[in-house]
Amino acid sequence: MEYTEGTADRTAEIAALVRAAFTDSEGAAEGAAVGDLARDLMETTPPGDICVFLAETEARVAGAAIFTRLACADPDRRVMLLSPMAVATGLQGQGVGQGLLRHALDALRAAGVEVAVTYGDPAFYARLGFAPVAPEVVPPPRPLTQPEGWLARPLGAPAIAPLPGPCRTVPALDAPAFW
Ligand SMILES: CC(C)(COP(=O)(O)OP(=O)(O)OC[C@H]1O[C@@H](n2cnc3c(N)ncnc32)[C@H](O)[C@@H]1OP(=O)(O)O)[C@@H](O)C(=O)NCCC(=O)NCCS
Repeated sequence: MEYTEGTADRTAEIAALVRAAFTDSEGAAEGAAVGDLARDLMETTPPGDICVFLAETEARVAGAAIFTRLACADPDRRVMLLSPMAVATGLQGQGVGQGLLRHALDALRAAGVEVAVTYGDPAFYARLGFAPVAPEVVPPPRPLTQPEGWLARPLGAPAIAPLPGPCRTVPALDAPAFW
């Protein structure tokens, strides 16, 4: 498995992978919604506010992790939000997701990102050092329907210094349905 960064005109292939993986795990409606989100993020986010990491095998996308900027009131604090992430159904459970995220977090740290945040399944993300985080430390951009899924991981310092709110996502993620 090879881990790379950037979409390189492969947005349709990446969105299709996300759609298929979420369709298989969550059903067709969720698959369509998350596939559309992946496409919208790649098409509408300014280049400086998005990092897409891929797992590739035999020149095909096997996994994708899409990070976009979570802006807080202090423009010097660099925080990236992971959403969505998917591994092709037939390749799940073989370490691809963990390998892809390790690569992504190392690259983000090297680029000066201070905190990685996600909103997802704590059982998977805890393996990569993510832990539940209080809203006073990382203010959610919208009210959360599943606060136990609001997770963060410091990339440089051992702990996260509280981020001054309000926090704001990129436009494609700024809809109540995602929260
Ligand atoms: C979640 C996902 C990205 C993980 O990728 P993966 O390549 O299957 O993950 P890995 O093989 O590296 O690690 C899986 C480990 O995490 C655990 N795990 C916890 N929650 C999990 C979940 N929702 N899906 C898969 N594994 C999960 C597994 O038990 C496994 O542990 P093990 O190695 O001890 O058996 C992938 O399964 C996927 O795309 N699922 C469907 C889409 C999705 O739910 N994405 C967002 C998750 S919040």
